[in-house]
Amino acid sequence: MIRTQLLGIGSYVPDRVVKNDEIRHLNDRHVAQEAVLTETDDAWIQQRTGIKERRYVAEGTYTSDLALEASRRALADAGVAAEEIDCIIFATLSPDIHFPGSGVYLQRKLGIADKTQCPCFDIRQQCSGFVYGLQMADAFIKTGTYRRILLVGAEVHSHSLDYSTRGRDVMVLFGDGAGAVVLGPKESDDPRDGVVYTRAAADGTGAEYLYLKVFDISKAPYLQYDPKDREHNQMMYPHMDGKRVYVRAVREMNLATQKALADTGLTWADIDWFVPHQANLRINEQVAQLAQIPPEKCLNTIQFYGNTTAATVPLTIDHWRQAGKVKKGDLVLSTVFGSGFTWGAAIFRV
Ligand code: ACO
Repeated sequence: MIRTQLLGIGSYVPDRVVKNDEIRHLNDRHVAQEAVLTETDDAWIQQRTGIKERRYVAEGTYTSDLALEASRRALADAGVAAEEIDCIIFATLSPDIHFPGSGVYLQRKLGIADKTQCPCFDIRQQCSGFVYGLQMADAFIKTGTYRRILLVGAEVHSHSLDYSTRGRDVMVLFGDGAGAVVLGPKESDDPRDGVVYTRAAADGTGAEYLYLKVFDISKAPYLQYDPKDREHNQMMYPHMDGKRVYVRAVREMNLATQKALADTGLTWADIDWFVPHQANLRINEQVAQLAQIPPEKCLNTIQFYGNTTAATVPLTIDHWRQAGKVKKGDLVLSTVFGSGFTWGAAIFRV
């Protein structure tokens, strides 16, 4: 039977490293001021989240630019030419512009727009984007719809954060980055080959607990603020009920992990690595404890990159692959949770 195989993986983060000590001095152009502009500190951030630093793009960078670099690396890793890609799935909550979606910009930047005219799907499941995208890609490949799918998660968060004490609970969490995988079909009857399992879920009653409005389409005009007036424009920035998100994330990521094992009959003896979404190290440690995951199998990168939303899973796998830990053919269990609420889990061979 046809199974879906990961052919290659790649990631990209911008060069600029922003440490916790620097972030409190940044203005909204990301220029460090002598004065403290946000009342926060390294000890609070590390203790509550595990984050030490994150990466920021230079002004003028689009989300599709980060996606392009990650995609080039994934294509090179797969030994697949960009011209062979017959479908792009782009997961992001920070698209280049409102419409069209970022997938078509990535297609154009890859130089394949007029050559392949491949379809470009943009998906909007925030931190759960990678697992949702993997489920879509798996279905497309198993049904023979496409043969070479580029699945990318990419985010530029640093331009939409509130650099003041008012926004500190969210601002310190996020970083910029991208991760990509190339997927294709493989003839195999081994149920543990390639993409073994995907499950996606959502609960829309949680939508108000983590959101970024920017605009309200029910209003005319649909922009209800003066973008130059920081004090009165709440709509430009993300809003989060951190505690509620935290508690639900621990619950759903634990249950999704346990269900993935129950549904497949696999145990931690079969799985090489647990790669959870990277929102908060404490969330991941609690999930690992509840789901009885061997600590040496848990991979995190939030310390270095913060929360890069749709990019965290491929970015974390690639980071630890480059560090020599993750090897080709290893079996990964990944679980995600994000705004929506959305969540899910996947088991796949890298
Ligand atoms: N620096 C210093 N103090 C801060 C900061 C900061 N950056 N942020 C908040 N505080 C203060 C608060 O104002 C509060 O002060 P008070 O007690 O005087 O009112 C105090 O610290 C404690 O705040 P809490 O909200 O209770 O802190 P908590 O331990 O809950 O940690 C956090 C906050 C880190 C945001 C946590 O709730 C969390 O990680 N939530 C989940 C985030 C998440 O998973 N997001 C989902 C993914 S994102 C996506 O899908 C797009």
